[in-house]
Amino acid sequence: MPPRPLTAKPSPALAGECRVPGDKSISHRALMLAGLAVGESTIQGMLLGEDVLATASAMEHLGATIERGADAWHVWGRGVGGLREPAEVLDLGNSGTGARLLMGVLAGQPITAFLTGDASLRRRPMNRVVAPLLQMGARVTARSGERLPLAITGTAEPLPIHYELPVASAQVKSAVLLAGLSAPGETQVVEPQDTRDHTELMLRAFGAEIAVERSDTGRLTRLTGQPELTGRRVNVPADPSSAAFPVVAALLIPGSRLRVPAVGMNPHRTGLFTTLREMGADIVFENEREEAGERVADITVSAGRLRGVEIPAARAPSMIDEYPILAMAAACAEGRTVMHGVGELRVKESDRLAAVAEGLAACGVDVETGEDWLAVHGQAGRPRGGATVAAQLDHRIAMSFLVLGLASEKGVTVDDAAPIETSFPGFADTMRAAGADIAEA
Ligand code: S3P
Repeated sequence: MPPRPLTAKPSPALAGECRVPGDKSISHRALMLAGLAVGESTIQGMLLGEDVLATASAMEHLGATIERGADAWHVWGRGVGGLREPAEVLDLGNSGTGARLLMGVLAGQPITAFLTGDASLRRRPMNRVVAPLLQMGARVTARSGERLPLAITGTAEPLPIHYELPVASAQVKSAVLLAGLSAPGETQVVEPQDTRDHTELMLRAFGAEIAVERSDTGRLTRLTGQPELTGRRVNVPADPSSAAFPVVAALLIPGSRLRVPAVGMNPHRTGLFTTLREMGADIVFENEREEAGERVADITVSAGRLRGVEIPAARAPSMIDEYPILAMAAACAEGRTVMHGVGELRVKESDRLAAVAEGLAACGVDVETGEDWLAVHGQAGRPRGGATVAAQLDHRIAMSFLVLGLASEKGVTVDDAAPIETSFPGFADTMRAAGADIAEA
């Protein structure tokens, strides 16, 4: 595909209501669990981003029946352990979540499947999921560093294991639990820091027995294997990680006031909002409610001055995807913002620490980075901008620098905005409808 450059120019105030698409993490899980359930599931609010469409296509190759209606998707599953061997290579595109969670699903099926992805995904480490899945009895043949493309052969009866996660990763936790669905016994996962629990909440909603408790080394999740999952209705809330972009844009563009409705408020996802409030942001949550086991609220945000803060490493899992957009807020704040314990950003869709540091420096902002930290020296106002930033096949880098462009003196061009379609289809249109000046470069 040819690159699609986009330019964001200094923008007038944003106003009105801004709806953001469905949650990416929850959409992936809904498709996989519906495919493993017996009977029909109805999924509303599904993200129609490329990442999720890739997972849907993989589940179809594995034998699930999927109908995409205008209001909802309908999925007929094949039962735990009942997936069919795919005749095609499963291409997960840009999606680490799609690839890693699906490997968990496949480890519990007595079939062989071949997985690949785009240039970004083929660079990302898979050993973090391969290691526990091998312990459970799966066989994997992969490129060096356990990178895609790879082949995985699962087993009808994987071993129920006790696994202590070496990194705080919801993807790895989820892969082990999904493999554990087929195991004859109790699969246990301990995470050193709490990560998003969408898999656990949804597994319970589909009928699995799952218990969570504190252990000496972290949070212990216990799943009883071989449940019968039953098709159900899932409501996907708006993605807080996507809401982050219009929310920060409204904070940074003077005079703005924006409402973002029905955003997921799972406490393991809201670290950005906590941090922005510490920086002095005017963010109000209204109509807090629960929809299909997930917390949801309407967000109203008003522009205002921000001040730099120190963000503790312990907060990283609850805002892991939000550091690039937070760095843009930090660039406009007064004083220095230091983000601790963010080494995982180096193995996301791009090396996000490097991408943020290079892009901000090109826009006239002073930054310092270490192996697992990033410090941004705020400009107490509009950064200069005036640069073309490399998106590096990373949707969140592209959207972050477009938001910076709106709040800058000279605007920012992103060399390729095409990856935005993976998580926030229609991003430029949505932002323009709120008043933002974003156009093809
Ligand atoms: C995700 C977990 C996070 C996050 C990713 C989505 C998920 O990754 O960065 O975008 O849906 O489980 P890790 O679990 O690897 O930190």
